[in-house]
Amino acid sequence: MSKVTVIGAGNVGATCANVLAINEVASEVVLIDIKEGLSEGKAMDIMQTAQLIGFDTVVKGVTNDYSQTADSDVVVITSGIPRKPGMSREDLIGVNAGIVKSVAGSVLKYSPNAILIMVSNPMDPMAYLTLKSMKLPRNRVIGMGGALDSSRFKYFLSQALNCNANEVEGLVIGGHGDTTMIPLTRLATYKGIPVSTLMPAEKLEEVAKSTMVGGATLTGLLGTSAWMAPGAAISYLVESIIKDQKKMIVCATSLEGEYGMDDIMIGVPVIIGKNGIEKIVELELNNDEKAKLAASEAAVRKTNSILKDMNLI
Ligand code: LAC
Repeated sequence: MSKVTVIGAGNVGATCANVLAINEVASEVVLIDIKEGLSEGKAMDIMQTAQLIGFDTVVKGVTNDYSQTADSDVVVITSGIPRKPGMSREDLIGVNAGIVKSVAGSVLKYSPNAILIMVSNPMDPMAYLTLKSMKLPRNRVIGMGGALDSSRFKYFLSQALNCNANEVEGLVIGGHGDTTMIPLTRLATYKGIPVSTLMPAEKLEEVAKSTMVGGATLTGLLGTSAWMAPGAAISYLVESIIKDQKKMIVCATSLEGEYGMDDIMIGVPVIIGKNGIEKIVELELNNDEKAKLAASEAAVRKTNSILKDMNLI
């Protein structure tokens, strides 16, 4: 028996619940939202596909009743507003920070031992806010951004190489922002072959740029932020926790000296298992990558300082 709560039944939350169900990641998924009837409707719609697709996961929708989320193993927080075209993820902090803090408090009342996955933007500061304000151990708060950004990186690499995306490996570290994420082109491979030997440097640079603005490109096309890949990226993370898969996934994690950083949550590769973040993987970065990570760190810290100005931490 495993139970996952998804807070927020908007596009990302509902898609996440759908992928969790289709892949039978958990036996029970509770979808919760403040908007009357929204979660119930989305959950019922998903459940009406169970016989067609053949899954056994039970998805239940509730309006604002946190008692229904009790004893969840994993809680996914997608609450808040998404960005509109032209907005940065950082622009959302004023609205989303208060919502995230209150939601985290409510859910922990009923699931005090749950592992929390933060999705709301700006993702790194929202994860940091949750960790700090709820005083949780660092293995239990995970920011989802790098899982999504790395998947987008592999997609763009596969397009450039005209190959199967499942045969490409790539990591995107740093903050989950258009200018703060760092696609590690040097370490990306196709079947173990460095991609830098398979395409011209300019083309690889283009892949990195497309990855960094991957979310913004979709926001421009869709009029709101993306949900298919974000929903699937969350499910991928949840599965590694519930099934104790020990996958190496880039996630925002609280650093305590690793990568020379302290008191920040930012994306680096970590091992994800039943205890959440079980290990931080320290990559040997070159000087250029280190400089990019330092710039990313500075940008994330600047956004984190807004949380202090708002008296939230
Ligand atoms: C994106 C949002 C979810 O990158 O941050 O699509």
